[in-house]
Amino acid sequence: MKLIRLDKLLCDAGLGTRSEVKQLLKKHNITVNGIKIIKPETKVDTENDEVAVDGKVISHEEFEYYLLNKPAGIISAAEDKKEKTVVDLIKEKKRRDLFPVGRLDRDTEGLLLITNDGHLANRLLKPGKHVDKTYFAYVKGPVNEDTKKAFLSGVDIHDETLTKPADLIILKEDESDCFKDALDYIKNSDKIDESILDEKLTGTYLTIREGRFHQVKRMFQAVGCEVIYLKRISMGLLKLTEDLPIGSYRKLTEEELKIIRSEN
Ligand code: URA
Repeated sequence: MKLIRLDKLLCDAGLGTRSEVKQLLKKHNITVNGIKIIKPETKVDTENDEVAVDGKVISHEEFEYYLLNKPAGIISAAEDKKEKTVVDLIKEKKRRDLFPVGRLDRDTEGLLLITNDGHLANRLLKPGKHVDKTYFAYVKGPVNEDTKKAFLSGVDIHDETLTKPADLIILKEDESDCFKDALDYIKNSDKIDESILDEKLTGTYLTIREGRFHQVKRMFQAVGCEVIYLKRISMGLLKLTEDLPIGSYRKLTEEELKIIRSEN
């Protein structure tokens, strides 16, 4: 049995603020197990009681978890007065308190977990316990065995300490579908000139173990390179799956939830 106030349940379900919900209780037929209720403080059992508004049953979800393949051009924030955010992309959300777990830059694409489970988010991002994150980075400039060694021993990105050891894999074009995403991104971007494709660009997977500001771009910059396209493909054991084209999302499966809860 899990008891919460009726007004909280209705707020969580996106039916308004506490005061709006109070009005709703006065003006609409809100029932708990078929009995009309007007008191906002009435306790309901979220696991067993059936709450309905004008006959429509309201489902209560304490936590929601979505896996988004973030498109470029959208900011990683819960809300913003002027711009569309990653949370605005989740149309089916029931909760009003969703947020992205960590941030991707506006022009970065790829895996973003969106939830209202603060406890899980803290565990995944806690300094020292940070889960590994792997990015596909399409890079201009010299990328070679020396770059691998530099990233493995840590590079100076003008913070207090060098970056933690990071693993770099240099890819051949047939080794990743992300090359196609990078080409689409460059062709559709109004910031990048397509003539960049005439230069030597290298596709890489970079796995980092911390989450500093613009970390991947600054690491490549530190070794004389420029990231042209960036996409996160995994966070801990959570992977971007092929059923999720850029811009789409789905709920995490039970299996995925079990996996990320067990990390750390
Ligand atoms: N590193 C970056 O530079 N940008 C991101 O969006 C994520 C990691």
